[in-house]
Amino acid sequence: MRSHCVKVLGTGSGIPEGRLTNNDLEKMVETSDEWITARTGIKERRIVKPHESAATLSLQAAWTALERASVSPSELDVIIVATVTPEMPFPATACILQDQLGATKAACFDLEAGCTGFVYALSVAEKYLRGGGGEKALIIGVETLSRIVDWQDRSTCVLFGDGAGAAVLGIADEPGVLATYLGADGRGGPLLELPAGGSRIPPTSETIERRLHYIKMSGNEVFRFAVKIMEEASREVLRRARVPIEDVDLFVPHQANIRIIDSAAKRLGIPRDRIFLNVQKYGNTSSASIPIALNEAWEENRIFAGDLVLLVGFGAGLTWGSALIRW
Ligand code: COA
Repeated sequence: MRSHCVKVLGTGSGIPEGRLTNNDLEKMVETSDEWITARTGIKERRIVKPHESAATLSLQAAWTALERASVSPSELDVIIVATVTPEMPFPATACILQDQLGATKAACFDLEAGCTGFVYALSVAEKYLRGGGGEKALIIGVETLSRIVDWQDRSTCVLFGDGAGAAVLGIADEPGVLATYLGADGRGGPLLELPAGGSRIPPTSETIERRLHYIKMSGNEVFRFAVKIMEEASREVLRRARVPIEDVDLFVPHQANIRIIDSAAKRLGIPRDRIFLNVQKYGNTSSASIPIALNEAWEENRIFAGDLVLLVGFGAGLTWGSALIRW
């Protein structure tokens, strides 16, 4: 009989080599390493070179995840790419990746759920496989936020970075993804948006002049929302899986700001040694943040077979999501 569990079979990442430190930013806008470190925990972020893009980073992450999962591209039934910075508006970055991988039988689409994109992709792929859509899925979170950041706006440009993370999922006999929880509140959309370039405000020389093709954010409001929703989303997925919080071996939160993570962890009563942190190295890489962290946690031997891992994210939309995984 067909099994109804979906496991993570392998992870990977695609990290650009270009580094931008807080000291570099001091030369670009009126800021300081002290301010950025104290307010965000970020020390540096990775930035793509002109020849790099969503597809090149995704391809790197995908090959590593496939190799570790011992899955060949031709076995993939679906590819989902979560991103707010796709290769282009269409075709989907997932289709471009499919062609480069030679994953000929995979259905492909992109998914946009702000920084929660990877958790959304995980939840959708898990249900797709469990619902009979196939045996193997490739999910990616990828961003080249440096291409949509306003490098003259010190309140946002210090926060974001580029990168990709991937996971291969497969039908298995033993439990893997135990529960997921997704949510959204569109009323909060204006708090974090890229106003122009879509059907409401198509690109013109005026929209470029008015800097409407860059990220606009109300930092304080997003901060308050983030702390509250990280706690709620963590508790809800644990409730769905009937797992007490003490049983979680590692929390892998969206890496937006160390203060958001610390405040949420305090509300949940989670000690620092059970939280994976790499925001200091990459800044906020949106959809790529959780899969990069998950992959790095695995590479650094912070996750072992049988461990309970909790992913929790929030982002533009506003959106939020959580997933509890038995590794
Ligand atoms: N360097 C120096 N000063 C800066 C600065 C920078 N890079 N950016 C802003 N400031 C200034 C502000 O102008 C303000 O000055 P003022 O008091 O003279 O007006 C002061 O610092 C305080 O700004 P404030 O916005 O209150 O700081 P904060 O403590 O809220 O921190 C954020 C700002 C953006 C770090 C914080 O709000 C945050 O992390 N929000 C969530 C953002 C996020 O995670 N977004 C992604 C969601 S997926």
